[in-house]
Amino acid sequence: MAESREKVSVLISQAELEKRVKELAEQINRDYEGRDLLLIGVLKGSFMFLADLMKYLHPQTAVDFMGTSSYGASTHTSGEVRITKDLEHSPAGRHVLLVEDIVDTGLTLRYLVDTLRARQPASLKVCALLDKPARRRVRIGLDYYGFIIPNAFVVGYGLDYQERYRGLPYVGVLEETGEAEGDSGSDDTSTSEE
Ligand code: IMP
Ligand code: MG
Repeated sequence: MAESREKVSVLISQAELEKRVKELAEQINRDYEGRDLLLIGVLKGSFMFLADLMKYLHPQTAVDFMGTSSYGASTHTSGEVRITKDLEHSPAGRHVLLVEDIVDTGLTLRYLVDTLRARQPASLKVCALLDKPARRRVRIGLDYYGFIIPNAFVVGYGLDYQERYRGLPYVGVLEETGEAEGDSGSDDTSTSEE
């Protein structure tokens, strides 16, 4: 295992995530009462949020996935969105809820909303776990969101840095220490060891 040069400090705890995800699911269940819902998860970042959300949604809820990539290996957006995996079934005539991990510049969501709208769903709404409004470059309306977060690079609960940290059960801020091993003592939010 490579030694970590980064440190992750907890921003949103596992308990806070669980509570908020349940609240969102209750709200979505109320809003879609009597209508069949199709969740479209945006891979890979949304997989954990989507799985937890779905546990509390109406059992008739269907799910499909789309894959996009915009970042490459860096923490800064290239501004370019690419579809790496498309839907299995047409969303035409369905009530679609697009589920994203985080809205940063908004470019990914803008592109996905435009693409999906062209496929004529009966309705289209957007749900994102995290909203980082400080870096927004395009206007985008979120119908549901979990948390508004400050302008920091976050990982965990599905979100990655170079494909790592997705499995953390909380959302944390990634800090680069520039060293192979932390030297600033061991506060209880550090996960840089092992
Ligand atoms: P946007 O197109 O700039 O809004 O960025 C959308 C995608 O970039 C998200 O779906 C994430 O996959 C990724 N992203 C944006 N900010 C972060 C972050 O702070 N941590 C990890 N991934 C991020
Ligand atoms: Mg994403």
